Amino acid sequence: MPNYVDEIQRRRTFAIVSHPDAGKTTLTEKLLLYGGAIHVAGAVKSNKIRKTATSDWMEIEKQRGISVATSVMGFDYNRYHINILDTPGHQDFAEDTFRTLTAVDSVIIVIDSAKGVEAQTRKLMEVCRMRKTPAMIFMNKMDREGKDPFDLMDDVEQELGINVTPVTWANGQGLDFESVFKLSDRPVKMSAKNQEAMELIDGVYPLFDKEAYLRGDLAPVFFGSAYKTIGVQELLDFFVENAPSPRPVEAIERKVDPYEAAFTGFCFKIHANMDPNHRSCIAFFKIVSGRFERNTYYTHVREGRQMRFSAPTCFMAQKKETVDEAFAGDIVGLPDTGNFKIGDTLTAGEQLHFKGLPSFSPEMFKYIENADPMKQKQLDKGVRQLMDEGVAQLFVSQLNGRKIIGTVGQLQFEVIQYRLEHEYNAKCRWENMSMYKACWIESDDEVELKLFKQRKAQYMAFDKEGRDVFMADSAYVLNMAQNDYKHITFHFTSEF
Ligand code: G4P
Repeated sequence: MPNYVDEIQRRRTFAIVSHPDAGKTTLTEKLLLYGGAIHVAGAVKSNKIRKTATSDWMEIEKQRGISVATSVMGFDYNRYHINILDTPGHQDFAEDTFRTLTAVDSVIIVIDSAKGVEAQTRKLMEVCRMRKTPAMIFMNKMDREGKDPFDLMDDVEQELGINVTPVTWANGQGLDFESVFKLSDRPVKMSAKNQEAMELIDGVYPLFDKEAYLRGDLAPVFFGSAYKTIGVQELLDFFVENAPSPRPVEAIERKVDPYEAAFTGFCFKIHANMDPNHRSCIAFFKIVSGRFERNTYYTHVREGRQMRFSAPTCFMAQKKETVDEAFAGDIVGLPDTGNFKIGDTLTAGEQLHFKGLPSFSPEMFKYIENADPMKQKQLDKGVRQLMDEGVAQLFVSQLNGRKIIGTVGQLQFEVIQYRLEHEYNAKCRWENMSMYKACWIESDDEVELKLFKQRKAQYMAFDKEGRDVFMADSAYVLNMAQNDYKHITFHFTSEF
C-alpha cells in the first residue's frame, strides 16, 4: 500500500460549532494543549470576535485577519493527525460557517449546560443534517449550576432532531462537579444519585452504535468543563477512535473516493487581505482525494487551464507553513490574486465539479446603487469579485435589471461598502427594500412554470448562475404562491 493511505486514514478533519459563548474557543484551546500544539492557556483567545465589537466591523475584520493563521489548526495526537477548522463566532458571518461545514468530515457541537440548545446551534445542526455530517456533543460548563443532564439530553433530541446516547456522565454538577466517568467502565462505588441515573440511562438510551453515528443518526454525548479541563480528554480519545477519516465526496460527474491516487479538491473559503496595497487572497482548498504537491500543474476546471502553486500553506498548530505535500482531508491555503471562486474545483486533469456548496436564502436584502457615475466599471468589477469571494449574494431583477444584494446580517453591507471604496475605488449607496425570502424555483410542469413567471414578473430575479429566483416580499405572498402553484417547488437553498 502506498504510504498516503495511512496518511489519509489517520486524518480527522472537523469543526467545533456552538452558539457564541458556549465555550468553543476554550474547548479548542484545551484540545490544542493535549496535542502539544500550544503550551499555555489563553493562546487562542486572540482569535475570538469579541462581544463588545459587534457594532464595530473594522475591529471584527482586524480580528478576522488575525484569524487567518488559526483558520485551520493542525496537530498530531497519538497516531492521528487532527485538523480543526475554525468558524466565525459572529452570527453575521453564518454563511462562512455553513461553507466551512462542507469541508469537514464531522463536527463537535458545544452546548452550554446552563442554557441548553440555542438558536445558532439549531441552524448549524440543520446544515449538518442536510449533509449527514456525524456529530458529537459536548455539554460544557458542568461546573456551573445548570439544567439537569437528562433534560439537556431531551433538549438536544427534540431541538436538534437527533438521537443521543451518553458516553460519559458527570459526577456532580455546579460546585460539586469534580470529574466524569465513562459509562462503559462505571466505578464500583457510586453515589445513590448516580446509581439511579445509571438505571435510567440503561433503560432509555441505546448503546453507542458507530454505524448510526457515521450515518449522522446518533450523536454520542459527553459532559464536562472546558474551562476546568474536565471531560475533555475522554472526548478527545473517543473522538479520534470513532470520528470518520476523510469520506467520499459527491461530484456532479461521480463520487470521488479519498484514496484515489489522483489529486482533487474544492475551494470552500476565500480570505481577502483587507490591506488595499496588497490585494491578495488566500483560497482555502479541501483536498478530497490523493496527494497535493507543491509546484505541480493542476487543472483549474472552471477556467480550463493549468496552474501550479509555489507557496501552498498548511496550518500546523497556530503557524502557517509552506508545505511540499498534503493529503486528502487536509486544507491547503493557496495564495491567489482573483483566480478562484468559492466552489471551484482543482484536479489532476479530470473534469469534475464538486457539489454541496449551497447558497442559503439570505436574511436581509437591499438594492445596491452606484453613487459615482464615473465609476460604474469599478463598481461592477468590485461587486462581481466580492460575490465570488462569497461575501454576500447578488440577485438581478428580471423586471428592471436592478441589482439586489442579500446578506445574513447588517455588517456585510458595511463591509461591502467599505471594501468597494477602498479596494475598487467605487462608491455605492443602499436602498432599503422589504423582502422576506429568496426561493429557487423548479417544476416539471413547463406550462405552470411559465405562467408563474409571467404572473409574478415583478418578483422574479436571476441569481449569479442565471437561475430563476422568486423574491417573496412577505410570508403571505410566499404562502399564497405555494398554495396557488402546486406543481412548483420552492427551495430555500440553491442546491436541491
Ligand atoms: P465561544 O468561543 O463559544 O464564544 O466561548 P468561549 O470559549 O470564549 O467561552 C465563553 C465564556 O465562557 C468565557 O468566559 C469562558 O471562560 C467561559 N467558559 C468556557 N468554558 C467554561 C466552563 O467549562 N465553565 C465555566 N464556568 N466557564 C466556561 P468570559 O468571561 O467571556 O471570558 P474569560 O474572561 O474567561 O476569558
